[in-house]
Amino acid sequence: MAKYIGVLTSGGDSPGLNAALRGIGKAADGQYGMQVIGFRDGFRGLMENRTVLLNRQTLSGILTLGGTILGTSRDKPHKMPVGGKTLDMRDAIVKNYEKHHLDCLVCIGGGGTQKNAYKLVNKGLNIITLPKTIDNDVVLTDITFGFDTALSIAVNAIDRLHSTAHSHHRIIVVEIMGHSTGWLALGAGLAGGADVILIPEISYDINVVAESILKRSRHGSPFSIVAVAEGAKSKEQDAALKKMSNKFKKNGNTEDKTKLKTELAAVRSLQEGSTLRLAAMLEDLTSLESRVTILGHLQRGGTPSAADRLLATKLGTACADYIEKGVFGVMVAIRGHGTVPVPLEKVVGQRKIVPLDHEWIKSARAVGTCMGDK
Ligand code: F6P
Repeated sequence: MAKYIGVLTSGGDSPGLNAALRGIGKAADGQYGMQVIGFRDGFRGLMENRTVLLNRQTLSGILTLGGTILGTSRDKPHKMPVGGKTLDMRDAIVKNYEKHHLDCLVCIGGGGTQKNAYKLVNKGLNIITLPKTIDNDVVLTDITFGFDTALSIAVNAIDRLHSTAHSHHRIIVVEIMGHSTGWLALGAGLAGGADVILIPEISYDINVVAESILKRSRHGSPFSIVAVAEGAKSKEQDAALKKMSNKFKKNGNTEDKTKLKTELAAVRSLQEGSTLRLAAMLEDLTSLESRVTILGHLQRGGTPSAADRLLATKLGTACADYIEKGVFGVMVAIRGHGTVPVPLEKVVGQRKIVPLDHEWIKSARAVGTCMGDK
């Protein structure tokens, strides 16, 4: 029976993290009498042994707070910057795990965290993970917590942008987070009634986008909202990236590796500022004034929605149950109304992208939204 458990939050913060910590801590302590130690700032705090006791006092009053009371970082156990070098710190982490006599370590995070946690499973640690990210791109779970809150924030922004775009007869291009997937932009664009939605899963043709805006203008609506995912790519960008990635895969093990890496990074960097370029091109092609709003980290901040609090609490309390049963090496996933433990090896290295036949894409097309492709 587990007695001591450790918890950390890792990767980009996400609304609902504190609700999850509270769920794990209160259920582990209250139901099973376990002692819960939090590690600060993700895997770095675990490596540096910076801890905080998670008990009734420290977990009280945090359900509604955004961010994470533990702090977070994007540090990786096997590639951690230490004293000017990048080192594999997994042995130091194992030592700290043993020092605290931990029976299990809970790692809460997105895709990167699942990967990092799995590196510790391979070092013999008992690990359980929870899926959180505003991007909703973790595989084998119906949803991740943080997504619902970020979605509402983005929808609210689109609602507000509508009236100003309308008044000024402008195009407003609103950039929405989501890393390399389009869940947030698609969901927010559809719920907010955006006229154009551009997501990484569907590379766009700028002329198709411009024509759809001009068509609206001809029909008496000389304004448009373009919801663009931060990872969206034009057909040209997409082709250049695919070509370069293939070249890298083919020749990545030859002496040209450094040169290839530089070339690949250069093609990837074309993504930077692409929303600004998109808006400028649309202005040129349509002769309508355009403006850009980048929602950025606004989408990750503040109070979690009710749905995210419920989700995080459900995952957190289920996690305590799995620990009590000795189920390790898994991610606690949401499936329908319940939770299931999914082996971590099935989760790592995968990303849940929006399927092209997803009902949100079908609905968007059905209401006349331009998806950039036809
Ligand atoms: O993964 C969550 C996320 O907010 C992505 O949507 C975004 O691409 C990234 O994190 C931003 O990371 P950072 O906070 O490190 O700038």
